[in-house]
Amino acid sequence: EKGGYPHFMLKEIFEQPRSIMDSMRGRLVAENTQLTMSSIREYATRFKNAERILIVACGTSWHAGLVAEYMIEEFARIPVEVEYASEFRYRNPVIREGDIVIAISQSGETADTLAALELAKAKGAMIFGVCNVVGSSIARATDAGAYTHAGPEIGVASTKAFTAQVTVLSLMAMMIAEMRGTMELTALRTLMLEMEKIPAKVEQALLLDKEIQAISEIFKDASNFIYLGRGFNFPVALEGALKLKEISYIHAEGYPAAEMKHGPIALIDENMPVVVIATKDSSYEKIVSNIQEVRARKGRVIAIVTEGDTVIPQMAEFVIEVPNTHEALMPLISVIPLQLLSYHIAVMRGCNVDQPRNLAKSVTVE
Ligand code: M6R
Repeated sequence: EKGGYPHFMLKEIFEQPRSIMDSMRGRLVAENTQLTMSSIREYATRFKNAERILIVACGTSWHAGLVAEYMIEEFARIPVEVEYASEFRYRNPVIREGDIVIAISQSGETADTLAALELAKAKGAMIFGVCNVVGSSIARATDAGAYTHAGPEIGVASTKAFTAQVTVLSLMAMMIAEMRGTMELTALRTLMLEMEKIPAKVEQALLLDKEIQAISEIFKDASNFIYLGRGFNFPVALEGALKLKEISYIHAEGYPAAEMKHGPIALIDENMPVVVIATKDSSYEKIVSNIQEVRARKGRVIAIVTEGDTVIPQMAEFVIEVPNTHEALMPLISVIPLQLLSYHIAVMRGCNVDQPRNLAKSVTVE
């Protein structure tokens, strides 16, 4: 059942080229600049005229929502708010009839997410679901939706569901942008062509496994970790930290890199591993300075960089090179080494990777 892998989590990490492909299948033909998502087409007028999109989710799905916020705002120019379902449902949120609420959930059974969408529905918003489990409670409660075809995810730590969610949400962002005319057709086509190449690039990133295992050996006894990223890679920093916390029980903080100097920088000394997602994108120069700030305080930098980078390897103690892509799609690649890092560290610490203490696969109570 684990397909020869020692744990479901590792199997699911390695399934990602396939699950991403399955989540795109039938929806994207880049050559013809063609996107097919019938549920979005059906609600075309709502999406075209949406004044605001609210995203509700928990945990890793909330991180996928953050990536979607950056994409939808960038490509489709609709303001997006990403909400923790548990906070949203209890704080008398402002919901208007023209709002679209996107609920993201792997299991489709998360109690807070379900309650949040019911509340929004009662106030007249249109509810769109991005779920993995077919026929789940959330999928049934929505007006429309798009499934992530990740297949069953057994490991408590969400891996392939995250990349499948980001895949579907990217396609949605592209399609809404196309309908609203907010993106040049050539730019849209470039993005779509890049999207088609993602499964092969994820496959390539998975070849880093041995290298990451060696780095894990060095840091397995750390008691803290900091993860930093900017722009599209900021949610990836949060996701990397969450993966490490939940399965290895090492305290980890994810932060937007520039926010570091407003507090967390005080934590940095020669014992602090700092994972920096520093791929070549529009915030590259800025993140290079953030790495310098960490080095100046003797922090131990593990940098995720774009292959061929010659600058960061001179500054960081360890570099992990990933294939290049459009910056909006980088989370699909940059998250892979972080999943592997948390997996190997947890295994080396003797933790129960697939069923970490105190956690349930789906949180059906509040
Ligand atoms: O099934 P859902 O996507 O609604 O679950 C949400 C969270 O409970 C889930 O992502 C959780 O944070 C994972 N254990 C993260 O790996």
